[in-house]
Amino acid sequence: MVDNMSEKIKKIALLTGGGDCSGLNAVIRAVVRTAILKYNYEVLGFIGGYHGLYADEYIPMTLKTVSGIFHQGGTVLKMSNRDNLFHFPITNDDGEVEYHDVSDIAIENLKKHEIDALVIIGGDGTLTSARDFARSGIKVVGIPKTIDNDVPATEITFGYRTALDHIMLSLDALHTTAYSHDRIMILEVMGRHAGWLALEGGIAGSADVILIPEIPYDINIVARKIIDRYNRGGHFAIICVSEGAKPISGKLTVKKIVEGSPDKIRLGGIGEQIAKQLEKLVQPITGQEIRSTNLGYIQRGGVTNTFDRVLGTKYGAHAVDMVACGEFGRMVTIQNDKMSSVKIEDVVGGGQMGETSKGGARRVNPNGDLVNAARDIGISFGDEE
Ligand code: F6P
Repeated sequence: MVDNMSEKIKKIALLTGGGDCSGLNAVIRAVVRTAILKYNYEVLGFIGGYHGLYADEYIPMTLKTVSGIFHQGGTVLKMSNRDNLFHFPITNDDGEVEYHDVSDIAIENLKKHEIDALVIIGGDGTLTSARDFARSGIKVVGIPKTIDNDVPATEITFGYRTALDHIMLSLDALHTTAYSHDRIMILEVMGRHAGWLALEGGIAGSADVILIPEIPYDINIVARKIIDRYNRGGHFAIICVSEGAKPISGKLTVKKIVEGSPDKIRLGGIGEQIAKQLEKLVQPITGQEIRSTNLGYIQRGGVTNTFDRVLGTKYGAHAVDMVACGEFGRMVTIQNDKMSSVKIEDVVGGGQMGETSKGGARRVNPNGDLVNAARDIGISFGDEE
């Protein structure tokens, strides 16, 4: 695994791709500080993900560049979930969009700057391109990033815990207004095809009903749970629903299709849909009104929490250690709190992360301890009475 050429490394570059999350700046800071302080490498940061690599837009990264960014959400390097340089849209003379492989331009830019290794921080789409750059001979180390926490070879991704904090605090806030008005409050959260955010956020925010993609629900069972709670004196109710939740034999609720994105489908709208159904099934019986809130992008922003600052630091520092040891074409992982790595080939593009690889993504076990504990304390998943 150790590449003999690795001792020649003098200069590395990094970029962030895909959708943002809290903890990215913690990773950037850790990469830069480890590279400079431990290995005396020079560091360049490409701006806007792969687009910066293609357009040669970069900034030299110094200890000063990363000073004061640790706690901030987002990424100082900016990012994009488009710009696949192996399938890049270019408008021809007739105004039509054609797709070309422009990765050679990026490789030329790396050569021009004498970059010895590239640290790529991103999700499935970004790391699929990282795999393709590795196949083209570029020395690449990948760092997985997602608030969805669904990367298979790693037990936790940075950004997830900060997103959970947002969900918990939002559910706390919804409780007081739900109580005041005797209402049913629905909170829709992100997570794509994995229910981790709704499940752990819902438990922490004491939801009465949690709906997740891994456990298809029956809206009649959800309605009966709320009516039953009402009859026992619980005059308000809280539902936490994952954007990827779907009814038994039903479909995903798609909000929009984003052309040019590796995973074109954007989910959203299930909360409103459930609200309409409960208006018919519950309101005539209990008189409770129903309101739905979509927490949306708030989950990805704000101040990075303690856990994600530390986790981001571990991911970033380990990535640079991997560069120094010549462990290329690999993605940083964490298992049983120990940093390690897997081949990028084994986890992307067809793949185990995100939508392109629903089958392999790390999803909630419907019979696992977490779901069982939730059921034990009376939380309904809308699947059984
Ligand atoms: O994968 C992270 C995530 O925030 C999902 O939870 C969400 O479905 C999606 O990205 C939103 O993507 P975009 O930023 O392109 O709207």
